[in-house]
Amino acid sequence: MKKNQNKNAFAIVTGASKGLGYAYCEELLKLGYNVIGVARDTDNLKELQNKYKELKVEAWNMDLSDIKNAYKLFEDSNKYEVEIVINNAGYGVWGYFDQSSLDQEMNMIDLNIKSLHIITKLFVQKFKEKNIGRVLNIGSMAAFTPAPVFASYYASKVYVWSLGVAINTELKKTKSKVRVITLCPGPLKTDFWNRSSNQKEAKYKSTVKVMKTSTYAKKSLLKGLQSKRKDYIITGNTNKLMKKLTKWAPQSIVLSSVYNYQRKRK
Ligand SMILES: NC(=O)c1ccc[n+]([C@@H]2O[C@H](COP(=O)([O-])OP(=O)(O)OC[C@H]3O[C@@H](n4cnc5c(N)ncnc54)[C@H](OP(=O)(O)O)[C@@H]3O)[C@@H](O)[C@H]2O)c1
Repeated sequence: MKKNQNKNAFAIVTGASKGLGYAYCEELLKLGYNVIGVARDTDNLKELQNKYKELKVEAWNMDLSDIKNAYKLFEDSNKYEVEIVINNAGYGVWGYFDQSSLDQEMNMIDLNIKSLHIITKLFVQKFKEKNIGRVLNIGSMAAFTPAPVFASYYASKVYVWSLGVAINTELKKTKSKVRVITLCPGPLKTDFWNRSSNQKEAKYKSTVKVMKTSTYAKKSLLKGLQSKRKDYIITGNTNKLMKKLTKWAPQSIVLSSVYNYQRKRK
């Protein structure tokens, strides 16, 4: 992909302090974009500012589970030439539904759904005025099946996928150049698993080879920035196969497999 030529162009990445969001920040900097990284604690982003001195790395400490901050993020970014927004901040609440924390689930819904919805809408409206810009929403392979023992997280990613696919279809049908693309990662080895199961060392346990987070970030970002027709993007052969299986296998088998996979997390 050609490097960005507009020295003033910015990309916003939420959930930028670690994991996938941090990897997206680095890939965007490699492509020549200035970055606004958002998280509750953005200290880690100093490393990127030191490494990419010719570009700007803004670090904004914001808790996006407070939806007032989703509006504030949009307002504060007004003075920047924002061309890309990556709605990446998110987590899950693992456990049997009768035992998992309702407070955590409501906080997760505020972050994964409400904040993402607000940021997507405000930037789509703004981008449409100039007929340029992309919102990349981080969904998940979790969007393609319900998940016993991880119910609300998977349901939140169905919302992200459904919303994004519908908006992107509207944009294409109305001949806009703006895009809202949903990127659907499979499992990645990040802190996500600790936070989502309230454990210190949950780490992702799997017999399947997991794609490196930086590799996933690079591949999915390039596809997300270049795609003209696709509404959502699945990266990696295993993930593509899983999508086919969730579509063609009887749902009772899919649900039992997901149940067995999720309940062993502790
Ligand atoms: N890891 C996986 O296997 C996997 C698979 C599919 C999809 N995903 C999705 O990928 C995205 C990134 O997850 P990850 O794996 O990179 O997880 P991660 O390593 O836990 O990173 C999550 C990021 O979100 C930020 N964040 C969390 N709560 C926030 C809040 N209330 N306000 C603002 N920022 C907040 C965190 O920073 P602070 O803690 O400093 O706020 C961190 O930068 C999520 O949407 C997740 O659902 C992950």
